[in-house]
Amino acid sequence: MIKIAIFASGSGSNAENIIEYFKGNENVSFPFILCNKKDAYVHERAKKLGVPSQTFAKSELEDGSILRLLKENNIDFIVLAGFLLKVPEAMVEAYPHRIVNIHPALLPNYGGKGMYGHHVHEAVVAAGEKESGITVHYVDQHYDHGCTILQEKCAVAPTDTPDDVAANVHKLEYAFFPKAIEMALKEQFGV
Ligand code: GAR
Repeated sequence: MIKIAIFASGSGSNAENIIEYFKGNENVSFPFILCNKKDAYVHERAKKLGVPSQTFAKSELEDGSILRLLKENNIDFIVLAGFLLKVPEAMVEAYPHRIVNIHPALLPNYGGKGMYGHHVHEAVVAAGEKESGITVHYVDQHYDHGCTILQEKCAVAPTDTPDDVAANVHKLEYAFFPKAIEMALKEQFGV
């Protein structure tokens, strides 16, 4: 049984979709969702799913407390589902190729510090891009940088607003993020 911790910072629609997708899969479990925002909607979703959720401070991520919590709970794998803080180096080293992130654009474009959520879609529209999409990748020491697991594209029409792009990107996320996690689990654990 592979124990997966989900990290989120906001609404948590991806977290919910992932947990629903893996329901009934005996190879994986989701012991808890960790969130750096007390009022984030992901806590409501967690309640509904019957998965414990816990709030932590940025300082606890940085001082090793969260890494300790993961180790104490024998967490094998980490999914960043709309998690907006940088993962500290010690955690990346403790979980090599065991942390995956989703980014709502076609990396290496529109990635890096400050490029998250709506900022990404605004930048894509402002640049007049004809396509956008999602990138699921392993996490390394740099923002939005590790090895790509999967990319999927969607068209951006000249009349699309950032909200339109966000909606199309969300559709891709719901369809492909769970599959990308499955691919990573197969690659890393052979399940
Ligand atoms: C998602 O679109 C995800 O790709 C993005 O935040 C959103 C979270 O939505 N992540 C980033 O921008 C990371 N740099 P959700 O909370 O409803 O899953």
